[in-house]
Amino acid sequence: MRVLVTGGAGFIGSNFIRHLLSDRPECEIINFDKLTYAGNLENLTDVEDNPRYHFVRGDVAMRAELEPVFKEKIWGIVHFAAESHVDRSLYSPLTFVETNVFGTGNLLDLALRHKVERFVHISTDEVYGSTSSGKFTEASRLNPTSPYSASKASSDLLALAYFKSFALPLVVDRCTNNFGPYQFPEKLIPLFVTNALEDKPLPVYGDGLYVRDWLFVADHCRAIEKMLFEGRPGEIYNVGGSNELTNLDITRRILARLRKPESLITHVADRPGHDRRYALDASKLERELGWKSRRSLEEALDLTIDWYVNNRSWWQKVKSGEYQQYYQKNYGVRLGSAKDAV
Ligand SMILES: NC(=O)c1ccc[n+]([C@@H]2O[C@H](COP(=O)([O-])OP(=O)(O)OC[C@H]3O[C@@H](n4cnc5c(N)ncnc54)[C@H](O)[C@@H]3O)[C@@H](O)[C@H]2O)c1
Repeated sequence: MRVLVTGGAGFIGSNFIRHLLSDRPECEIINFDKLTYAGNLENLTDVEDNPRYHFVRGDVAMRAELEPVFKEKIWGIVHFAAESHVDRSLYSPLTFVETNVFGTGNLLDLALRHKVERFVHISTDEVYGSTSSGKFTEASRLNPTSPYSASKASSDLLALAYFKSFALPLVVDRCTNNFGPYQFPEKLIPLFVTNALEDKPLPVYGDGLYVRDWLFVADHCRAIEKMLFEGRPGEIYNVGGSNELTNLDITRRILARLRKPESLITHVADRPGHDRRYALDASKLERELGWKSRRSLEEALDLTIDWYVNNRSWWQKVKSGEYQQYYQKNYGVRLGSAKDAV
């Protein structure tokens, strides 16, 4: 049973590959990834010799690079590949359109042509925009605000159109903010943990009262597995942890765990169009597929912080650009750098 995972060298994709290899011995995985600044093969060193795991470097937006993967029968696809950082989308919006919209279009089209039996499109809760009260259900109106969320909303709707128009058997996953091991240290939790470990300032946007619902990445991976094997084609599933916290709360918890002073908190100018609050009703996933998050926020956050404490060489290489230089020198592969695009 061959599963194509796009963007598998990134944060959620690499956690998912590890999860699927251990949970589903019948699955063979092809990880198709462009290796942008966010893709890191060091996220998968523990599985790279597994005979059921294969890596192919390529760009989903380039049909000629994607098409050869379909020469062998692909049973299912989990599509993570995306430009994923909101801040970068404000500087380079068209890169987001290219990968997130055009790349998704290529993949949907090839999946249809090659009669792929299962397709999970990884969207995001950000497609709903912000709300001051209540929670978004799968029927809520889409109201994206950043080029990132608008490009994700476009690909989300395109995916659903491939089900409605052509009966491509796919489901759409709309998930809240993930955190956990191997997250690129430009996102809030890994950035703040690693900055705190280096006694550097923690740049909190505006008043820091932006609310996000946080979900441990391992819980998200279990939800994706359920959608891949049991999801009803054409359905959208919200995935959330019911862990609403302000950015300032998260920051204080990180500092407390690391025994670092709150004086490291530095309020910086807000970003344009910053959504105030994301909140999801994820009861459909529990009702229909029996999924529930397993880890409490406290436990998962401690596990995550400890992972960064114990894996300094991983994030130091990523932050310094050493990882990118290593690949260029040894494999002649020019990877994007953490400084690209911003
Ligand atoms: N991280 C979150 O909190 C979160 C929450 C909800 C949804 N999502 C969605 O989940 C998916 C994965 O997010 P992530 O945080 O792991 O992202 P990430 O930035 O860590 O990883 C993205 C991966 O995609 C690859 N990629 C980028 N452009 C590509 C292209 N053109 N062709 C092939 N590969 C390409 C990168 O090299 C990288 O390995 C994204 O679609 C994102 O929108 C993320």
